[in-house]
Amino acid sequence: MTRTDTPWRATILTLYPEMFPGPLGVSLSGDALARGDWTLEARNIREHGLGRHRSVDDTPAGGGAGMVLRCDVLAAAIDAATGEQDRRPRLLMSPRGRPLTQARVRALAEGPGALIVCGRFEGVDERVIAGRGLEEVSIGDYVLSGGEVAALVVLDACVRLLPGVMGKMASGVEESFEGGLLEYPHYTRPRDWEGRAIPDVLSSGNHAAIARWRRAEAERITAERRPDLRGGSAPDQAGSKSITGPSRS
Ligand SMILES: C[S@@+](CC[C@H](N)C(=O)[O-])C[C@H]1O[C@@H](n2cnc3c(N)ncnc32)[C@H](O)[C@@H]1O
Repeated sequence: MTRTDTPWRATILTLYPEMFPGPLGVSLSGDALARGDWTLEARNIREHGLGRHRSVDDTPAGGGAGMVLRCDVLAAAIDAATGEQDRRPRLLMSPRGRPLTQARVRALAEGPGALIVCGRFEGVDERVIAGRGLEEVSIGDYVLSGGEVAALVVLDACVRLLPGVMGKMASGVEESFEGGLLEYPHYTRPRDWEGRAIPDVLSSGNHAAIARWRRAEAERITAERRPDLRGGSAPDQAGSKSITGPSRS
């Protein structure tokens, strides 16, 4: 599906609507929101909760720790947020979902928008996933305490690709993951800094040589860090070095 002039429409179902737009209210995404290039509605699942306490969760069938978001409550929230004509993909943020990729982000950005369900607790009752056609999406192999931060990641990645949001569209085409490569290194002034110089080729004015150098660097970095993007096996991250800065003693 390709977009028309109607704004890209995001609806978030969450127990914490106050977390939106959060960081997306500033910079490129915030400006685009203010311009009406996209719209954001954060709806509280608890409005469909049960009883005096608007309860949304219950104990897991079969026993075990934690609580589970009820299927009837979440289905009511989804039904109230969507109409018959709503053809937007329905995403459920979930660590066991398919990993989010730039290709999936691009497809979402080209569509009419998305309904995004943010899980909490141990997760959501399995029946609502099939019953309401939810697509489980993960933002990485780690566990967050809720789906809200993951939903913000999905929205940020999509919104920056909407027409007119990034100043220069070329910057969206040459980025990491486009064409199965990570991006080449960037430099700017000063030319020499702490004994490290900008590679000579970048000051040569020879555009063909610069393009060749960038391609070679992108291939080198991809082969080193993400061979899986080029058909190799994924790197083992368990042993990777920390980049958190100097240790405090
Ligand atoms: C504490 S987590 C539940 C983890 C679940 N018990 C499991 O082991 O897979 C609560 C919610 O955070 C969200 N979440 C956590 N990690 C995520 C990830 N890597 N990607 C997307 N959503 C995630 C999901 O919405 C999930 O329902």
